[in-house]
Amino acid sequence: MTEKIELPVDGDSTGRDLGTEELALLREAIESGHLTSTRGTFVPRLEEELAKVFGVDRAIACASGSAAVHTAVAAVDPAPGDEIITTPITDMGAITAILLQGAIPIFADVDPQSLNVTAETIRARITKHTKAIIATHLFGNPCDMDPIMALAKEHGIPVIEDAAQAPLATYKGRLIGSIGDIGCFSFQQSKHFTSGEGGIVLSNNEDYARRMFLFVNKAWGYGDAKPDHYFLAPNYRMTELQGAVLVPQLAKLPGVVERRHKTATLLSELIADLSHVEAPPVTPESKHVYWRYPLRVKMEGEGLDRLAGYIRERGVLCAPRYIQKPAFECQVIRDRVTFADSKWPWEGGHMAGRDPIVYDPKTFPGAYDGLAHVLVIPWNEFYTEEHVRAIAGVVREAEQDLLQSGAV
Ligand SMILES: Cc1ncc(COP(=O)(O)O)c(C=O)c1O
Repeated sequence: MTEKIELPVDGDSTGRDLGTEELALLREAIESGHLTSTRGTFVPRLEEELAKVFGVDRAIACASGSAAVHTAVAAVDPAPGDEIITTPITDMGAITAILLQGAIPIFADVDPQSLNVTAETIRARITKHTKAIIATHLFGNPCDMDPIMALAKEHGIPVIEDAAQAPLATYKGRLIGSIGDIGCFSFQQSKHFTSGEGGIVLSNNEDYARRMFLFVNKAWGYGDAKPDHYFLAPNYRMTELQGAVLVPQLAKLPGVVERRHKTATLLSELIADLSHVEAPPVTPESKHVYWRYPLRVKMEGEGLDRLAGYIRERGVLCAPRYIQKPAFECQVIRDRVTFADSKWPWEGGHMAGRDPIVYDPKTFPGAYDGLAHVLVIPWNEFYTEEHVRAIAGVVREAEQDLLQSGAV
């Protein structure tokens, strides 16, 4: 058996670039005695610098990526029962964000190769109740945005980009997160830049930006002549401690992305000749930033598990089937477990006269196919060429083991 590979991981300092720069600003924040962002300096600095990097008018920091999506949904102000189209293959925080704002998630199918939503799959779900579209750039690979934006324009519907996994990814030269009406990012531990938890929303639309600023601040009109709590909103503020860590993290981001891109591209080259394992597709004219490296495996069930087991035993902590099942099969959505036994917002007076919302598995062939064949390999900016060659060797051996086992 090949020696076990020791890889940097994003759960500790082997795979996170947190050091003297972050410590210096953290010290400054702590010594200032002022840790809330309401009159802080680090969070406003992060917002300003990030807006500049993304070429947008406004960036508003918040508590998490889930909070970012919730804030974006709140900006488009759905009425109870309005529909928001999103992907069934994403983090649950991006879906509960819709429900918490009283809107109903409507899932578009995905392309089985990229696991991203497409204009065609979104089009099939648009109704007169559609209030917004969320385009999630899964694993760091951009959605094909031009047709999605054209479709949204045709229907007068805003597009929220969930770029939690895709900072500095590009589509036709444009930065992901700055193409739609609102962009969302996460600074959770495993992301390209991190403060453990945290998030941010971007927009060029003044009305959305104003509403998002208010939403993360209990809708208190800071700076207004006669401030009040204008509407229902949580406290989703980021702290100065997170801001102090994120200012240097943002400066490191281009290097992180370049290193991930370079090593992932090398792995794709090294496994290009394999017969049962394929490198992830990259959307044409796009740059994939590899939050994760999703292999497409041309077998499912026991074959996929055997391959994953072989790779895992050799130190590469891969995940077959990513999130295991589409979001609508998770208990919260399947059984509609929201506010006591109300099943709100799927049910309630606002739904009178409307057909019940049904998530029919038969209408998600791409999602089931994609999940059944994906093997997600963790990726990291500290992978060296040596690590990547070792990973490629293990994937190659795992395929040989599978072919010899007669499982294919
Ligand atoms: C695509 C996507 N959206 C939203 C989120 C939620 O972010 P957070 O964990 O920071 O709340 C995540 C987190 O993994 C994610 O991957």
